[in-house]
Amino acid sequence: MFRGVFLFLCVVLLPSSGLCSQQEESHYIGSKACSQCHEQQYGNFSKYSKKAHAWDSIAIMKPKLKENELKQCYECHTTGYGKKGGFVSHETTPGLADVGCESCHGPGSAHAESGDPKLTTRRPSMQTCTACHNSQRVEDFHFKPLLFSGAH
Ligand code: HEC
Ligand code: HEC
Ligand code: HEC
Ligand code: HEC
Repeated sequence: MFRGVFLFLCVVLLPSSGLCSQQEESHYIGSKACSQCHEQQYGNFSKYSKKAHAWDSIAIMKPKLKENELKQCYECHTTGYGKKGGFVSHETTPGLADVGCESCHGPGSAHAESGDPKLTTRRPSMQTCTACHNSQRVEDFHFKPLLFSGAH
């Protein structure tokens, strides 16, 4: 009910007010879905960004990790883990098993349906990056992969 009123306000009365983020209504759809309209960005991303292969980095470690340790990797090596419509497992959500476009631009279902640029985040904030590029945590977690790096 509240949601209905909120949507009415946002869609009909205040569409450009900036108070209503319809992107919040979006769920994750995976980078491949962006490629139909953003071929160039998708091509460059798939080819040059390590993010597009972030799953491989944890897959290599997988045999040596306990289930709960592996889950900690998901937060930074997949898209939208723990969030609505985000990564759950490689089996059920293979399209989200890397760090995709939506890790920076936010969940994209509403934008991808309409092509409306207002429904995506053009400029990710620094906090978006530091959620994963957090020096202390990264070092901590790297410690583990390094422990196993072919030494025994
Ligand atoms: C049906 C086509 C379509 C799909 C699918 C699509 N987009 Fe877009 N996107 C557009 C259009 C149209 C624009 C506005 C024109 C432009 O900048 O190219 C746009 C613009 C953008 C912008 C710039 C926004 C701005 O304010 O300038 C970003 C970022 C973006 N899209 C990200 C994505 C992401 C991420 C996905 C996949 C989750 C995606 N798009 C899927 C059509 C689409
Ligand atoms: C969801 C987590 C996540 C977010 C958000 C994120 N990154 Fe990353 N990023 C990663 C991971 C994981 C890697 C390493 C992938 C691998 O090698 O497995 C990476 C790699 C990189 C690299 C290495 C070079 C390359 O080719 O990929 C740069 C630079 C980078 N990220 C910058 C950024 C910036 C800038 C932002 C914010 C706009 C950002 N990242 C947001 C997880 C994230
Ligand atoms: C807090 C976020 C975060 C977590 C949690 C995390 N990583 Fe990473 N990981 C990153 C980022 C960011 C990078 C790339 C930048 C860097 O090297 O600092 C990276 C890079 C890597 C790389 C190196 C890839 C390369 O090409 O050099 C490996 C391997 C890796 N992570 C494995 C793991 C494993 C396994 C786990 C779970 C035990 C894990 N990571 C958990 C953020 C994280
Ligand atoms: C590491 C974060 C990050 C990832 C991942 C990422 N982008 Fe972007 N994207 C940005 C930034 C930063 C800009 C530039 C914003 C600005 O205008 O200052 C941008 C700009 C864009 C634009 C606006 C036009 C342009 O090229 O400047 C589109 C469209 C777009 N991205 C689509 C995508 C798509 C599709 C993917 C996945 C294939 C993707 N992005 C992955 C950070 C990212």
